[in-house]
Amino acid sequence: MDLPSGMWLEVPLVQQYDAIAVRDADIERVVGPYRERVEIPSLVGALGDVAGASVLDVGCGSGAYARLLRRRGAAEVVGVDVSAAMVAEARRAEEREPLGVRYEVHDLAALPVLGEFSAAVAVAVLHYADSRRTLARMGERICANLAPAGRLFALVGNPRVTAGVPLANGFVVHRPVGLRDGDPYTVSVPTVPPTTLSVRHWSCGAFEETLLASGFARVVWEPLQGAADGGGGGDEPVNLLLRAEKG
Ligand SMILES: C[S@@+](CC[C@H](N)C(=O)[O-])C[C@H]1O[C@@H](n2cnc3c(N)ncnc32)[C@H](O)[C@@H]1O
Repeated sequence: MDLPSGMWLEVPLVQQYDAIAVRDADIERVVGPYRERVEIPSLVGALGDVAGASVLDVGCGSGAYARLLRRRGAAEVVGVDVSAAMVAEARRAEEREPLGVRYEVHDLAALPVLGEFSAAVAVAVLHYADSRRTLARMGERICANLAPAGRLFALVGNPRVTAGVPLANGFVVHRPVGLRDGDPYTVSVPTVPPTTLSVRHWSCGAFEETLLASGFARVVWEPLQGAADGGGGGDEPVNLLLRAEKG
């Protein structure tokens, strides 16, 4: 499905990701170097030793992080995603290389309790929340799946990245100035043809307030590793990493 970037705002998210799933390998090729240099060391560093841990990967996509964390010794890893096509990709990867990761199709905003996990990861998913209510529901459902003192690690769109900031991984952010919390904008990934994602603007304060109101006791912004130049070639990293601790 190829549409002018503005029109993607009209396409329901599940359809966007069902369409994108067929290009997953292309997208991984483009985002891979940034992931390897910034995202993975930052997330893995913040998580610490996951040996024996149980981890819930929300918005798991094709399961890149679910597999990574299982390989790093997590005892149980469950991935959930709203897109059945992305979950099918993840399950195909599991068939090719069985690691014992379980995948389920769920909307994070209505996620049932699947277990009592010691940690949850949400890589590039919370900024799809289309309203503060949805963001709060996502936070509540993650919290309900965490053990006491469980932690959420989330990479979220950096609200400070604006349309003029060049990003080293080739992403192009179409973010008009003056966006308010919940406003939509698009990001183009330089696959051939380009892949356009429609996401929402959320300020750091909105993430903090919403997660604190969703049952988390503390929200901390983690440093990003490998991002001396901002991780994206401009002054600002593409995503920011937050840690939220359940009370
Ligand atoms: C940018 S991709 C990231 C995938 C994966 N976390 C990774 O880093 O490889 C965002 C994913 O979030 C999923 N997603 C968006 N909104 C969701 C929701 N409400 N519930 C569950 N998954 C969602 C999309 O279907 C997509 O697979």
